Amino acid sequence: MSDVHIVVLAAGKGTRMKSSRPKVLHHVAGAPMIEYVLRAAVELAPKTVTVVVGHQADEVVSALDHPGLTFVTQEPQLGTAHALLMAEPLFKDKTGVLILLSGDVPLLTAGTLERLVARHTTTDTAATIITAVVEEPYGYGRIVRLDDRVERIVEERDATEEQRAIREINSGIYAFALEGLFDAVRSIAAENTQREYYLPDLVAIYRTLGRGVETVRLVDPNEILGVNSRSDLAAISRIVRDAKCAALMANGVTIEDPATTYVDYDVEVGQDTIIDPGVSLEGRTVIGRACRIHGGTRIVDSHIGDGVTILDHCVIHDSMLEAGAQAGPFAHLRQRTELGAGAKVGNFVEVKKSSLGPGTKAMHLTYLGDAVIGAKVNVGAGTITCNYDGTDKHTTTIEDGAFIGSDTQLIAPVTVGQEAYVGTGTTVRENVPPGALAVSAGKQRNIDGWVQARKKPRTEVEAKRS
Ligand code: UD1
Ligand code: CA
Repeated sequence: MSDVHIVVLAAGKGTRMKSSRPKVLHHVAGAPMIEYVLRAAVELAPKTVTVVVGHQADEVVSALDHPGLTFVTQEPQLGTAHALLMAEPLFKDKTGVLILLSGDVPLLTAGTLERLVARHTTTDTAATIITAVVEEPYGYGRIVRLDDRVERIVEERDATEEQRAIREINSGIYAFALEGLFDAVRSIAAENTQREYYLPDLVAIYRTLGRGVETVRLVDPNEILGVNSRSDLAAISRIVRDAKCAALMANGVTIEDPATTYVDYDVEVGQDTIIDPGVSLEGRTVIGRACRIHGGTRIVDSHIGDGVTILDHCVIHDSMLEAGAQAGPFAHLRQRTELGAGAKVGNFVEVKKSSLGPGTKAMHLTYLGDAVIGAKVNVGAGTITCNYDGTDKHTTTIEDGAFIGSDTQLIAPVTVGQEAYVGTGTTVRENVPPGALAVSAGKQRNIDGWVQARKKPRTEVEAKRS
């Protein structure tokens, strides 16, 4: 088997996106579109992977965190053939196959690339192109055939009326024999409406040189959809999300309404979990088995154990919920918050960078920030950890079995000892020893008849009317 080298084109401006962000970094179902391309590429176990960058090169390079990538810069961007030429110095003494991928064609599978390589090597041609017959060929290069043989590729802008009617399109994905490739690419001229060096012109050049050009025609044209505009982006994200929901359902997850369920590509969900409409599961989120995720909830980069219930409208970021825990409705968990097994966080509770031990409950209207809370603690309604002194954040520690009465403020740093009891409405400024009761409010005073005494005396007329 000959060596496989991969070159990914990602230098273009992406004018049609109308964006200050490089096109290839726009997200498709939670990941930059070029990530999909690189993941498919590495599955071929290539000898080298080169990315051609140019427009906003620094941003693209720093966003791609893959070992073993080589970057070359194309400046200015004079077209796809010119882009490939930038990689020429890397291939001086290399042989084998060069697979050319486009950073804006994210749905291509590794299986298709394997077929491309297999086809290319068995037919021993100079170039093999992936094509597909589509309903809407607008905007793509058209495959012009003569007696079934590919003669040339013509771009939308340069096509005649008759060529525009061709529905077989160029995917922009090719396998090239390295031998003689760069000499041929260098002979491409910019004779077209765009004044750009078009890589697809290589086909006509190879024909003139009498070198073979083959095609691999895909049955599923979705795989080679390119992203040129925001609506392409939305359409492709929809395809990825539909496929993701279908795969989860095939693995035993109930998704009540796939059309309103947004599950990112890398998310994992265990069997028998039920997901209600309007849920977003994002980033690197992992959900266990037999969970129930109610509507309107968004979970990002979090770990949810088995049998967890998330009630409606929760926002959970970068957090971990152990088996049987419960959150919501309307809970906000963030910054490495951890709920132990069976712990419960309820209505309008915000938890930041805090851990709650097994069986601990904070059911209503509470803020817990930078808190270390043990097992079986009861946190009453309206409890606030005052964790910020205007300069620094401080820790509140609540030990196992403690009871925090409603409307308590805990002025951090402070510790409430094991099984201690904090009375309702207490401002806890000092540590509470284990087993102690803390109260800070003064003794209650009742003034009899105060309300009546405060009322204006009524006139006789008013009294009669009422
Ligand atoms: C290209 C093909 C077209 C094909 C389509 C498939 C050409 C001339 N046309 O058109 O036949 O049907 O892809 O999606 O190749 N790029 C560079 N440097 C440049 C120009 C582009 O790196 O100077 C990169 C872009 O970042 C992009 C890729 O090459 O990743 C394709 O460029 P784009 O301008 O999107 O080409 P299309 O018009 O889509
Ligand atoms: Ca494109």
